[in-house]
Amino acid sequence: MREIKTERLIIRPLTVNDAEDAFEWLSDPVVNRFMPYAPYENVGQVKEWISGIKDEENHFGFELAATGKVIGSGDVEFDSENNAYHLGYNLNRAFWGQGYATEAAKALIQWAYKNAGARDFVTCHAVVNTVSKKVLQKCGFRFEKNGQYSRFDGSEIFDALYYSLHLD
Ligand SMILES: CC(C)(COP(=O)(O)OP(=O)(O)OC[C@H]1O[C@@H](n2cnc3c(N)ncnc32)[C@H](O)[C@@H]1OP(=O)(O)O)[C@@H](O)C(=O)NCCC(=O)NCCS
Repeated sequence: MREIKTERLIIRPLTVNDAEDAFEWLSDPVVNRFMPYAPYENVGQVKEWISGIKDEENHFGFELAATGKVIGSGDVEFDSENNAYHLGYNLNRAFWGQGYATEAAKALIQWAYKNAGARDFVTCHAVVNTVSKKVLQKCGFRFEKNGQYSRFDGSEIFDALYYSLHLD
């Protein structure tokens, strides 16, 4: 079952029909500020990305139940290096500060727990990305260690905080 209903969201796989909505956040340099990849330049690139998403990536769009608009996306993909599921999320800037990321992140964790047998989760955020820190704390993540990650093109290195979450 790849659909999760929360209070305000329908969390389900993205389709190419969502590309225009997804372009709104994927092309936004502010949303992209701490992402390893460059902002998307056109809707065609977004369609290509969506078409290439594999089931095992467990990548879901966050659709607003009230309007049908897709306002963000996130994933809980198995990370064999850490033997845990890696959580990630991005949201259209026009919808920040309304609790959507927290609502979606909690639902993704529960989905992976019930449907993929996930018990251990990991994630990280750039030190200065304090909003993401709040989302993770509300989901129950605990700080593990300091580290760094870099943009894919090597143009920037981010100091980062790494977290884990274990559910019995
Ligand atoms: C991180 C992100 C997904 C959070 O989305 P969101 O829906 O706004 O998050 P929430 O509304 O659930 O808010 C979490 C907390 O951050 C606060 N917050 C959200 N946006 C904020 C802003 N622009 N400035 C200050 N605080 C903010 C919320 O008020 C809330 O605080 P609280 O815990 O004290 O109530 C969103 O900011 C985003 O897409 N950022 C860019 C991409 C990114 O950083 N992804 C994560 C990479 S690790």
